[in-house]
Amino acid sequence: MEISLMEHILIHYRWIFVCLFLLPVSVIYDAVMYLRMKIVFALSSAPKQHDKRVQQIQKQVRDWNDQGRQNRMCTARPGWATMSFRRGLYKHTLHNIEINLIDILNVDTQREIVRVEPLVTMGQVTACLNPLGWTLPILPELDDLTVGGLIMGVGIETSSHLYGLFQHSCVSFELVTADGSVVKCSKDENPDLFYAVPWSHGTLGFLVAAEIKIVPAKKYVKMEYIPVGSVKELERRFLDEDTCKNNQFLEALVYSRSQSVFMVGNLTDEAEPDKINPIGNYWKPWFYKHVGGFLQTGPATEYIPLRHYYHRHTRSIFWMLEDIIPFGNNPLFRMLFGWMVPPKVSLLKLTQGETIKMMYEKYQLIQDMLVPMKELGRSLDFFDKELDLYPLWICPFKLFSQPGMVHPAGDQDEMYVDIGAYGTPRTKGFSTVPSTRRLEDFVAEVKGFQMLYADSYLSREQFRAMFDHSLYDKMRKQLDCEKAFPEVYEKVNRKART
Ligand SMILES: Cc1cc2nc3c(=O)[nH]c(=O)nc-3n(C[C@H](O)[C@H](O)[C@H](O)COP(=O)(O)OP(=O)(O)OC[C@H]3O[C@@H](n4cnc5c(N)ncnc54)[C@H](O)[C@@H]3O)c2cc1C
Ligand SMILES: *[C@@H]1O[C@H](CO)[C@@H](O)[C@H](O)[C@H]1NC(C)=O
Repeated sequence: MEISLMEHILIHYRWIFVCLFLLPVSVIYDAVMYLRMKIVFALSSAPKQHDKRVQQIQKQVRDWNDQGRQNRMCTARPGWATMSFRRGLYKHTLHNIEINLIDILNVDTQREIVRVEPLVTMGQVTACLNPLGWTLPILPELDDLTVGGLIMGVGIETSSHLYGLFQHSCVSFELVTADGSVVKCSKDENPDLFYAVPWSHGTLGFLVAAEIKIVPAKKYVKMEYIPVGSVKELERRFLDEDTCKNNQFLEALVYSRSQSVFMVGNLTDEAEPDKINPIGNYWKPWFYKHVGGFLQTGPATEYIPLRHYYHRHTRSIFWMLEDIIPFGNNPLFRMLFGWMVPPKVSLLKLTQGETIKMMYEKYQLIQDMLVPMKELGRSLDFFDKELDLYPLWICPFKLFSQPGMVHPAGDQDEMYVDIGAYGTPRTKGFSTVPSTRRLEDFVAEVKGFQMLYADSYLSREQFRAMFDHSLYDKMRKQLDCEKAFPEVYEKVNRKART
């Protein structure tokens, strides 16, 4: 590819723009949103506003009906605002519905439920719930992930081996459907809809509220870091039922074929004072660097303040920030500017331009593949051969045998594992499309699933084979969605996104 001088500067000196401009803007944005959240929550003004805001959405949908259902609908949230590295092209062509629902509505400690609007973020949830002594059973790590996206797409965390995916911690959903009415669903009320909503990407209706379980929080997570020498050994540890049952958090980072760190953790209020490590402080090393250090120094135990634990991969966006700010983990940089990190993914997307996007597409891969745990060893071998990309993120989860798009192949709950690959593959001859295609075929073969925020090159037939559409199709008919919303495939396949 011909690269002009200007483009060279754009790519290699992007950090200047990011540091001088995006970091301060991100800090100000977060501070304003945090203050707003505190005030709204203190005044409990959100519940009063909520009904009015939902009526505004209903009105937009009814107007669309009155105008003869000319064009199908999607939310008006701009493509750059989401976490996925892509923007939906359909945002420009479909009829946009404004959804201004960004507040936590109610924390009900009696029923152990929090009721939230869909644009509430994970950072907002921990900031609100943890000081009250509560937390979510499954709290996906990056601050900017939204409840709506985690339900309509997917969400996972290191407690998922006990609680399942984010969808499994939800108790009820409220949606505005194609005819403009509000429908509530739970496992007892409209159960078909309840099970069809997760992974449906807004193609059955607009989510306007969700009730999510809450569990008591504790001050720390007691973590044990255990360096592991081979893929076989790592697989053995994850397959050990006692380890799985007894520890509240399970995770591994794979640094090479022969170097992984297996991590187990529990919530606790007591800590050995000399082992407390507030890893989230801005001057602290990035988490994956910190964890990698145990490969040299051997097993260790630490007590990590709860909120620091939850957002441990936030500051370095797993390991993706290093590509943008190469010296971001330098101690001097952390001391001086670490408090502004990370830049918001949305702002990075908004400002990246065509050249950078093309370079990323050519050299980078960002995928999360969900495979049965018994295939972990084989999958890591395949990833190694195909990508040679490290670190890999390993996060186990229980896949409940429930109706819907994603469930185990058999009729029993089954342990699965998320393998996250983010970065620049080093295999000779890596080429994004064919390599990703082979990865997708492998995942399909082991009865796994692709996370749909990532680039998917599956054909419509392959997509339907991977994701069970039987309940979804039934609900699409029942709720008259054909003229109202595109199908999931039409929103998530690579051609639908830029
Ligand atoms: C850098 C990066 C880091 C990530 N880290 C994690 C992680 O730590 N843990 C994890 O579990 N996942 C992670 N993911 C994946 C993430 O789970 C998905 O992107 C997920 O869908 C949430 O993203 P979002 O909040 O930006 O949702 P969006 O992309 O905004 O939404 C996802 C889909 O849901 C639909 N939707 C959202 N709200 C509504 C609504 N109110 N009504 C109707 N439809 C709606 C949207 O139209 C869209 O199709 C990561 C992804 C990236 C790119
Ligand atoms: C967590 O608690 C269980 C039992 O309660 C114990 O078996 C396990 O070793 C603990 N894990 C850690 C990291 O302390």
